[in-house]
Amino acid sequence: MRSPVSRAFVALLVMVAACVAQIIAPAVARAAEVNLYSTREPGLLQPLLDSFTAKTGIKVNTVFLNTGLAERVAAEGASSPADVLMVVDIGNLVELVKRGVTQPIRSATLDEAIPASLRDPDGNWVALSLRARAIFVSKERVSDTAMTYEDLADPRWRGKVCTRGGQHPYNTALFAAMIAKHGEPATAEYLKALKANLARRPAGGDRDVARDIFAGICDAGLSNTYYAGLMLSGAGGPEQKRWGEAVRVILPTFKNGKATGAQGTGTHVNVSGAAVARHAPHRAEALRLLEFLATPEAQRIYAEANFEYPARAGVALQPIVAGFGTLEIDPTPLATIAAKREEASLLVDRLGFDR
Ligand SMILES: [Fe+2]
Repeated sequence: MRSPVSRAFVALLVMVAACVAQIIAPAVARAAEVNLYSTREPGLLQPLLDSFTAKTGIKVNTVFLNTGLAERVAAEGASSPADVLMVVDIGNLVELVKRGVTQPIRSATLDEAIPASLRDPDGNWVALSLRARAIFVSKERVSDTAMTYEDLADPRWRGKVCTRGGQHPYNTALFAAMIAKHGEPATAEYLKALKANLARRPAGGDRDVARDIFAGICDAGLSNTYYAGLMLSGAGGPEQKRWGEAVRVILPTFKNGKATGAQGTGTHVNVSGAAVARHAPHRAEALRLLEFLATPEAQRIYAEANFEYPARAGVALQPIVAGFGTLEIDPTPLATIAAKREEASLLVDRLGFDR
């Protein structure tokens, strides 16, 4: 029979054990998981995250957010469980930095995998895939196979150009890149001439450019390449497949890019990318996840899922994407483009481009 003293001792032992378990448990969890906040579709990422877990033993807890990712992490403050923040569009990447929810990372692996122009100079974010801003032209009515963005403003295209709104982030970034290359006054002239060439009010989405070319409403327009991939693959249904088949994808360059930019020219790309959260409880694991996503195999799968381009050079392209031709990325650093976004947006507004 146990004495009250030994019973009290056992109770004390149980209490101590419980405390130790509480102290150890989070430490163990810290070593084996990473929390990802993402605006990218779950289906796009899950196979890669599973493969990361299989390789490293690190479990990925994912929070998918359609909007308001930056606001949420900011609101969570120092107690935020977020480790990796994954968003689309350079505007959203710089928004994370502006809100102070990222931390600079240094990784020789990432530096080697992703070109410097596609990374934040201060190490706050890194691009994971590229979204090339293309020109779609009618296969039936247009014979051109090479164009500059500036060509769309040529009087030859009067009443024949379609685009989504000038304030959409895809166009904001393109116009910002143009300001970075040619300056604000020249970009204002460009936008005026482009507006004069429009077949309809800037509205809808990029797919609608192909739809309207198919319908004969316009002959050329701006669209990201992955929409052509999505349409041609049949993923959007037979109607969209016909829209996709009606257009030729041209990977444009900027006019006189060499003379004015002194950096050469190429196709404007926007990105999807990621950052490590400022208060990341699993910082090391967060970095491992980013480094994994930059490996050639992960880059191929990540890019293929949405018909995008890998951010890493030398990775095989999805066959439909490869069919668009060789992508020469415009060398203007994304950070430079991001810095001109506000100016581009104000310009679109001032010129009444969307009216
Ligand atoms: Fe899109």
